[in-house]
Amino acid sequence: MALPLPLAEETVAACGEPRLYRPFFRAGIAVVLTLGAAWGALLLLRIAWAGSFTAIGLQEINAHGHAQIFGWVGLFVMGFAYYGLPRLKQVPLAHPRMAQASLWLMGVGLVVRSGFQAAVAGWAGFGVPAVLGSLAEIAAIGILVWVVLGTLGSATTALEVLDDYVLTALGWFFVQAVLEAVYFTATLLAPGTAELLWLVATWQGPLREIQIHGFAMLMILGVSQRLLPELYGLKQPSKARSLTSLVVLNAALIGVVAGLVLMRLSGHAWAALWYLSVLVMVAATVALVWGWGLFGRVERSDRSLKYVRAAYVWLFISLAMLALLPAHQFGLLAWLAPESRAAEMGFSHAYYGAIRHGVTVGFVSMMIMGVAARMVPEFQGIRGDGLGPLWMPFLLVNAGCAIRVLSQTWTDFAAPAFSVAGPSGLLELTGLAIWGVHLWRIMDQHVELPGFEP
Ligand code: HEM
Repeated sequence: MALPLPLAEETVAACGEPRLYRPFFRAGIAVVLTLGAAWGALLLLRIAWAGSFTAIGLQEINAHGHAQIFGWVGLFVMGFAYYGLPRLKQVPLAHPRMAQASLWLMGVGLVVRSGFQAAVAGWAGFGVPAVLGSLAEIAAIGILVWVVLGTLGSATTALEVLDDYVLTALGWFFVQAVLEAVYFTATLLAPGTAELLWLVATWQGPLREIQIHGFAMLMILGVSQRLLPELYGLKQPSKARSLTSLVVLNAALIGVVAGLVLMRLSGHAWAALWYLSVLVMVAATVALVWGWGLFGRVERSDRSLKYVRAAYVWLFISLAMLALLPAHQFGLLAWLAPESRAAEMGFSHAYYGAIRHGVTVGFVSMMIMGVAARMVPEFQGIRGDGLGPLWMPFLLVNAGCAIRVLSQTWTDFAAPAFSVAGPSGLLELTGLAIWGVHLWRIMDQHVELPGFEP
């Protein structure tokens, strides 16, 4: 087991706060249980009550999405990076005080940004603090990139595949933060509804692609290739295969983003570029993950394995749904619900939203839950085999996610599906709350291990 590696005492002392992951993970849990899942569950109940996914204002929904990407995913990535990287490379964390400052910049920035973004419908002036919050987040992510580069730069070993994935994912994390701020400002300044709708239709899809497949998916794929062979004895892909996959996935992502933007700006023929790139992304992801043997017999197992397996099942489901989008839009909808708004518009908000929920909750969140459930006890120096299997949060979040994805897609064909989708967020919220309290308690326990404390 190579993570977490105990550090030499003088290296630990030079790292500053030796358990820097804790405030980041606690902040991440606080965000997901409030601005994230709780707010999301409330939004879903209101959507179900109104019987329409467009019943809630754009800024309010986007404020929830923003909190989840920056707060839930972002804060966990920052905590893992600041704690894990020095131990993997056996060097002190570069700029430890700046790393601590980035917690405040990110935490305060995202609360201000999401809170005021949701309130701009009431008074446009709230847009000013919201944009300032975005600038704080950009600074936090800039510091993260600087600290990671500095730490990697002081390592004596050559860059490994994990580093290439991490650096690429962090690059996308920074790019999306800048784009988010610019896009949000543009929506605030849009002179009328037509201009606002044009902005959303042109830029929101590409932005989500960068956030989900550029930042979150590449980060998880990179960490998986380093961690899963050690945790469960899975097969390690060859370096050439990993790097080829990274290049192909980035090229596919750029194709997806370019296709979506050009489709709007230069004509519908560019949909072909989008779809071809989607197929390449799906094929490259499946080819990479399949070789690990995640679903076969494993050498070692623990409570986290079911989370990791479920996460990758959800990734495959969401990618399959993305590849089948034309079949849903031009096949099923045209056949079963030709009068529906989605068929008339040529775009199913429900189906696209269901894909996003499958990947953000099923894949990304399930992975955060599983990896943290395995690594945090080890970071704390607590034996994992005495801890519970965490079945309840696993079942609740998976059940909520499955009900949501199926029923949200079904709303294209039958209005009663809204009342099935409505309560699903409460299942997910309950599951995340049980998991969050469990993890918080583990982080409260102080166990002295040689090499882990200064
Ligand atoms: C855990 C329970 C969650 C619930 C109940 C929930 C609920 C919702 C609802 C009702 C919407 C609007 C519906 C739609 O447009 O399809 C939405 C949108 C969104 N959610 Fe969540 N969500 C949850 C978790 C997450 C997570 C974990 C993430 C990211 C990691 C996330 C990111 C987003 C984003 C980015 C959007 C905006 C999508 C767009 O571009 O239209 N959500 N969520």
